[in-house]
Amino acid sequence: MTMTLLDIMRTSAVIPVIAIDEIEHAVPLARALVAGGIRVLEVTLRTKHGLDAIKAMSAVEGAIVGVGTLTKPEEFAAARDAGAVFGVSPGLTPALIAAAKSSGLPLLPGVMTPSEVMAAREQGFKQLKLFPAVPAGGIGMLNAIYGPLSDVMFCPTGGISQDTASQFLTLKNVACVGGSWLTPKDAIAAGDWQRITDIAKAASGLR
Ligand code: 3PG
Repeated sequence: MTMTLLDIMRTSAVIPVIAIDEIEHAVPLARALVAGGIRVLEVTLRTKHGLDAIKAMSAVEGAIVGVGTLTKPEEFAAARDAGAVFGVSPGLTPALIAAAKSSGLPLLPGVMTPSEVMAAREQGFKQLKLFPAVPAGGIGMLNAIYGPLSDVMFCPTGGISQDTASQFLTLKNVACVGGSWLTPKDAIAAGDWQRITDIAKAASGLR
């Protein structure tokens, strides 16, 4: 059964934003997150291992792997072919809209202003990433947007932590939040997968 983007966003309270520096870390990291109840994994294309990591992590049982930091149209088909089932971009451009449509990869595009929300909605995108969420205005901004634009759902990302995530998750227009705090670089480098599982457990219990 194919999951919609909204289904995916509602699967876990938090979507970890992952950057894989060493490809050997991909599978144990995915297993550690899934063991902690975090199944939706956003693997960014910020490192050279992005696509290989998506491929490897997609094979981990229970993992729902998407691609993050999509900024170029040619990345859509490559990520889909690597196994990504959704995509996240920091913004939205006409070329990215075309690539999302032609690749069939469900896209969670980044927005930061009401005009950007409206422009994305006109193109059929009703699930959006508020990015960078805290610098953009955070909870106050999301509440203000809900007034005139109540039919869009957000995954705010950028500047959110375990301590602040639960406040975001109480908002009517927030389906999940994104963040990099679930994958501390020192824990990954040390292979401390239990620590990652513990962080994931705390995050998945937020809702
Ligand atoms: C992202 O790329 O989505 C954000 O940089 C993640 O933001 P954070 O590091 O503040 O969680």
